Amino acid sequence: MDKLVIEGPTKLAGQINVSRAKNAYLPILAGVLLNPHPVHLKNLPDLRDINTIIKLLGNLGVKITKSGNITTFDASNITSYDALYDLVKTMRASILVLGPLLARFKSARVSLPGGCAIGTRPIDIHLENFKKLGALINLEGGYVEAHTDGLKGANLKLSFPSVGATENLMMGAVLAEGVTVIENVALEPEIDDLAYFLKKMGAKIEGIGTSTLTITGVKELKECEYEAIGDRIEGLTYIMAGLITGSNITVAGLNPKHIDQTLTLLKDMGAEFELGEDKVTIKSNKLKAIDVETSPFPGFPTDAQAQLMALTTQVEGKSKISEKIFENRFMHVPELQRLGARITLKGNEALVEGPSKLKGAPIMCTDLRASAALVLAALASHGKTEIHRVYHLDRGYEKLEDKLNALGANIQRVK
Ligand code: EPZ
Repeated sequence: MDKLVIEGPTKLAGQINVSRAKNAYLPILAGVLLNPHPVHLKNLPDLRDINTIIKLLGNLGVKITKSGNITTFDASNITSYDALYDLVKTMRASILVLGPLLARFKSARVSLPGGCAIGTRPIDIHLENFKKLGALINLEGGYVEAHTDGLKGANLKLSFPSVGATENLMMGAVLAEGVTVIENVALEPEIDDLAYFLKKMGAKIEGIGTSTLTITGVKELKECEYEAIGDRIEGLTYIMAGLITGSNITVAGLNPKHIDQTLTLLKDMGAEFELGEDKVTIKSNKLKAIDVETSPFPGFPTDAQAQLMALTTQVEGKSKISEKIFENRFMHVPELQRLGARITLKGNEALVEGPSKLKGAPIMCTDLRASAALVLAALASHGKTEIHRVYHLDRGYEKLEDKLNALGANIQRVK
């Protein structure tokens, strides 16, 4: 297992570019299964999670070819409807193949994703709404077995604006007979991106960007080329890397509107930014403490909670961070405490007292975004920090150490 060795504290300078968004491309890749004609995707990021779903698509019979920065997926001849446990257990977003397989082939057998470090991650909202679209769902031996005579449009209302459930049901509805109305959908930018991808393939979707989507089923989709949005969570991670090291860097390749609320929160802490069309430049970073709770978009994203916590260890005052989306997303806390952070936990609330002088130490990744928080803290820590189990980090950050070293960080990956 690789580890990262980081010498700190360091200053950073220059511009860092985000890759295309993991959480936009994962549902888009599942959506490839809807189309009997080739789909050409541009600049797929080289991430473990992306490579896992590509392997899964290959196992189902999708032909995959690459030329330059374009990867072509040909799902004209699907030979299996089984998404097997050994892949799904490593990447729970594999459940997103359920909707496309049901919609196009009327059958799917997908391993229950199982929980992950940050929570039980149930899929009840997905399943109860597929039943309303005419699917027979049976849970057998750790698998979801789903069959239908053909999905039929229906009026759905999500009990919670679940990102994955919204994406799965959108894709199911695209080929369903008649009209599907889905209320209380998630509003994350990745949902809009999936909708634009589906429309580019010929799907009929109204209400993009609102809480209610109206999808009119079509018979067949057509060949298309698509490139996903920039990764807003990767972008926020780098903005916080600049803030935690007191560096005025530029983060490029993302739409600043996708992180508007978080930029406002960071400005409330005292940060100043200059916004471009597809970039954010830090202008000043004298920060003070903040109280925040995570919530569905457009609120403060749970995927940036760990990174913000690392940042608050370095600012003057007491910050209160409440995690309202997942039941166990504080596993970065003991690791940050090993570096000297002063954090006390009360249920789903973390109280952070700053600034603390952090000192390098061996620490361990537990989940994707916790890993990013550890890297940020290590950049601001005095001495050498060893970060173990970086395979968690590699799920969602492409060439992280190369990108940060290009700004002046001192990060070595040790095999
Ligand atoms: C997506 O996960 C993201 N993953 C997560 O990012 C992100 O943290 C999450 O949305 C919230 O923004 C991808 O897009 C691949 P949810 P997802 O369904 O779809 C509960 C990362 O770091 N729920 O919106 O699984 C669930 O337990 C990852 O890149 C149900 O109860 O999130 C959770 O408490 C981590 N029943 C809450 O809703 C369901 O059927 C949010 O889950 C579905 C969800």
